[in-house]
Amino acid sequence: SAATLAPTPPMGWNDWAHYQCSVTEQIVTANADALVSSGLAAKGYTTVTVDDCWMATSRDSSGHLVADSTKFPHGMAWLGTYLHSKGLQFGIYEDAGSSTCGGYPGSGQPQGGGPDHFATDAATFASWGVDYLKLDGCNVYIPSGQSTEQAYRNAYSAEATALASAGRPIVFSESAPAYFQNGEWGNPTWFDVLSWIGQYGQLWREGWDIATYNASSPNTSRWSSVMSNYGYNRWIARYAHPGNWNDPDFLIAGDPGLTADESRSQVGLWAMMSAPMILSSNVSALTSAGLAALGNSDLIAIDQDSAGNQAAVVSTNGTLDVLAKPLANGDRAVAVLNRGASAQTVSTTLASIGLPNCTVTAKDLWSGTTSTTSSTLSATIPSHATAIWRLTPASNCPAPIPTGEVVGNGAK
Ligand code: GLA
Repeated sequence: SAATLAPTPPMGWNDWAHYQCSVTEQIVTANADALVSSGLAAKGYTTVTVDDCWMATSRDSSGHLVADSTKFPHGMAWLGTYLHSKGLQFGIYEDAGSSTCGGYPGSGQPQGGGPDHFATDAATFASWGVDYLKLDGCNVYIPSGQSTEQAYRNAYSAEATALASAGRPIVFSESAPAYFQNGEWGNPTWFDVLSWIGQYGQLWREGWDIATYNASSPNTSRWSSVMSNYGYNRWIARYAHPGNWNDPDFLIAGDPGLTADESRSQVGLWAMMSAPMILSSNVSALTSAGLAALGNSDLIAIDQDSAGNQAAVVSTNGTLDVLAKPLANGDRAVAVLNRGASAQTVSTTLASIGLPNCTVTAKDLWSGTTSTTSSTLSATIPSHATAIWRLTPASNCPAPIPTGEVVGNGAK
């Protein structure tokens, strides 16, 4: 079942946001090696996914996908064996349409209709040792008289059927909702897609791409894209639970273009939202603040908490967001994001996060220090930083919130 394949949000690495179509076998193996040597693999970042542009421009004479022999000289089965030998999992990219977003052969029906390749390609991936499939949604053929939503649903359902008979458990990352997203407040069709997408796979891209790395102007638009993706993902907590995860796209923490506080905020917010933790950066060139945030065991534990509750928005005033996440052992994670341009001193009452008249031990997950409070959580939060605490009820606290329930207005 879905929950068996991804009981907690997948963690790993993907080449796309840093390398795009210049991906090569050497880039993938070097980053895989760096996940191991940096310690990130031991922390859980183990699924290494090759994104678009890995293929030859056409199928072979028997209709099978083949790797680009210049970029991947040893082929994909070799790469799978290499990754497995390092204790990692092998992820690959395909598309539910006639061709990928980059123009390579897709698994879906050709334009105009005809046989799809879902079963053939799933069997190919299984034979290569693939453990995780990201199925994008460019160029999906829409038969006349069929709704776009139904065409996507048919394609993602067909892939799920193909994966179920591929002979190997393969985590299914779906991109369909991203093709129906139109901004923070969504639209009816986007919510419809979000309501069925979890039947077929374990995680789904629900919106736009995080801004890609640009070596010549590394500071352009990366923080604003993190805030944009956070901005809509924060409202859809109700679709997340063990085995089913909203994916607000890659972690780019530790990349040039984000400040230390911005890198920390992205990791902290993604952990609060039970987001897949898929780093897309040059692992050997991470900033020290980024590497520390990505490897912060307390934050990883928040992300990977077995209850699988995506944090709810308790309050927002446009500058400060307060998020709360009930954890499996009765603890509660609380985050306060400062989106503003200057530092903010905040004082969040325990009552506002569902803990009235109660005493808690609060661990600051950045400093590691603990304190006891029965009134407020207080901090001075720099611009673009996020304060995060793990609260352990000490006395007079209400019973733990049941799994799946939220506090605040998270159930938009
Ligand atoms: C889309 C996806 C990206 C990446 C590219 C590849 O834009 O959202 O994550 O996979 O396609 O072409």
